[in-house]
Amino acid sequence: MFEALTRQPDDPLLALIGLFREDERLGKVDLGVGVYRDETGRTPIFRAVKAAEKRLLETQDTKAYVGPEGDLVFLDHLWSLVAGDTVDRSHVAGVQTPGGSGALRLAADLITRMGGRGIWLGLPSWPNHAPIFKAAGLNIATYDFFDIPSQSVMFDNLISALEGAALGDAVLLHASCHNPTGGVLTEAQWLEVATLVNERGLLPLVDLAYQGFGRGLEQDVAGLRHLLSAAPEVLVAVSCSKSFGLYRERTGAIFALTTSPQSADTVRSNLAGLARTIYSMPPDHGAAVVRTILADETLRRDWAEELESMRLRMTGIRQTLAEGLRSRWQSLGEIADQEGMFSMLPLTEAEVMRLRTEHGIYMPGSGRINIAGLKTAEVAGIVQKFTSL
Ligand code: LMR
Repeated sequence: MFEALTRQPDDPLLALIGLFREDERLGKVDLGVGVYRDETGRTPIFRAVKAAEKRLLETQDTKAYVGPEGDLVFLDHLWSLVAGDTVDRSHVAGVQTPGGSGALRLAADLITRMGGRGIWLGLPSWPNHAPIFKAAGLNIATYDFFDIPSQSVMFDNLISALEGAALGDAVLLHASCHNPTGGVLTEAQWLEVATLVNERGLLPLVDLAYQGFGRGLEQDVAGLRHLLSAAPEVLVAVSCSKSFGLYRERTGAIFALTTSPQSADTVRSNLAGLARTIYSMPPDHGAAVVRTILADETLRRDWAEELESMRLRMTGIRQTLAEGLRSRWQSLGEIADQEGMFSMLPLTEAEVMRLRTEHGIYMPGSGRINIAGLKTAEVAGIVQKFTSL
């Protein structure tokens, strides 16, 4: 019976993990999958995470099910981190999910269940956005969001897409630290988006996966908060993978801002019901760690400080890299003003392959680089390899 299946291609981004591991060259450099690395090349466990885990080990007294909605205290703290006091909390439904991907899938399933026809997606975007939405049965309408040669956000295209969208259409937005381009929306642009979304009755689905990695914990959600203030209904998919370094613990949440406590209750019941049919209940550990950190002033401060030091390291690398690359591509000076882990280099797939085979520099065929994969001492050498292509 299995003959009915055909071999599927491996996920090109995740395949880089294996390819890099198998490369035996000493000076190899991994600029592929988005994980934070420090100056020694390690992906550290936050000090606050270790401390919270120790506490949980000593105090946790059951492994009984948490329920399809997950940990309600975790959800409450996480929503505060994301939205502050922007909206009436009784209008918000939250469900804990296996990572940001789980949140996006639940959101897409919810939109499908609501009879939503489709979702607008600016390109390029995270390569898993379209497959997740397609798997949920959504139609995807695309527009060009970012011009790689000039390294600029094509804001007019975003506005045209929103103006052309039909009432009730969903629109995917990146809260900050755009993956894969690092492109930034200004505050004025966020305000324009928020007004338009409200006027046209669109449903924003905001992907928030890098809070604290861009301009800072508060700044990275400032645009999202404008949207929450303006639009009556918003979906927010949150990932704790990067902000808490909990990648493999699969920790995230989907939140829905609704128009009333009754509507919030209805949405929550639908999200929980959808979760029940996919994975039943989310894994507990990562959420318990986040809850422990956010509920404790000392752990929270320590976490925020360590996160800030990571952000500053990435910002520093951005400046040095941009300075070096500017000599060959004037526009790449813009990388310095972008934010988050990623930027896209104007490389052909053949050039990406040459960097891999000749120099052991790994990145996806799109030319996206993970800035956090670079060590300061390495940057000059890498720039020299990029610019000599
Ligand atoms: C990335 O874009 O590299 C990360 O979000 C990891 C992933 O799941 O793709």
